[in-house]
Amino acid sequence: MKIAAISDLHVLPDGSDNELLESIRQRVQEIQPDVFIIAGDISDHLSVLGDSLEALHTSDCTNLYVAGNHDIWFEDAGGPGSLEKYSHSIGGICREKGFIHLPDSPYIQENTAFVGSMGWYDYSFRREELNIPIENYEQKEFRGAVWYDVFKIDWTFTDAEATSLLNEKLEYDLKTLPKHVTQVVHVSHHLPFQELTVYRDKFPWDFHSAFMGANSTGLILEKDMRIILSISGHSHVRNRITRGNITAITVPLGYGRPNIEKIEDFVRDAVAVIEIHDNDVDVSGFATGDICAGLEYVSSRY
Ligand SMILES: [Fe+2]
Ligand SMILES: [Fe+2]
Repeated sequence: MKIAAISDLHVLPDGSDNELLESIRQRVQEIQPDVFIIAGDISDHLSVLGDSLEALHTSDCTNLYVAGNHDIWFEDAGGPGSLEKYSHSIGGICREKGFIHLPDSPYIQENTAFVGSMGWYDYSFRREELNIPIENYEQKEFRGAVWYDVFKIDWTFTDAEATSLLNEKLEYDLKTLPKHVTQVVHVSHHLPFQELTVYRDKFPWDFHSAFMGANSTGLILEKDMRIILSISGHSHVRNRITRGNITAITVPLGYGRPNIEKIEDFVRDAVAVIEIHDNDVDVSGFATGDICAGLEYVSSRY
């Protein structure tokens, strides 16, 4: 089985990313995967998410999406809130555009199941040695550094509650897989393993690392011997680790944009190709690190 995967496109809402999207679609088409996975953070505007999924939809393979935190940011013009976006709106848009929103239901191809969840964070990735009080993580602010979800997520759960709820749904999805499933690919937006997080020994980077994921999610994965691969996004530094049976990778594109003549090389790095033969996961050729380093920085936050 061949999988193509990417995340964190953070598509600009003004159409200036159209060539990038087309280049990604062409690259995926060229890879000819069985399954194409996008692990979240396309846009906080549902209209941009819909248009982007339409542009990225690849024929002759299964197209899967898992929402990211930016996708569930509420929109100012009285649109749906974060919970409604995650549990309802995004699934509807995915269906309309030929994608399966994996958190709504697992996808099964022969003996392989794809199980997805946005995942969340509970500050278990925080660096204790920074001695930042837990209240600052709860308030998502410390000495001027802000984790922007504080302004844009409007559900009433605490972060610990959100993490638990999403973990419970993940456990339910795993528990209710049909008996003939012998291997599972997990897809999330937030990180299930702390080792996937890159610390830089600098502020505010290491404060923000507390918002990358939750160890409790990784423990669920480690207990299920069917899981051989975990794909996530959110951290904009690509990473690859092995945990027991599981190969875990992060596949972000990020906020950088290359010059038009470099777009093909950039996309080649951005789209991960994973091959599964029996129980063996092959990610050779996987680009690690920040592929946007040194590029022009764009922000979709307008
Ligand atoms: Fe992102
Ligand atoms: Fe994210």
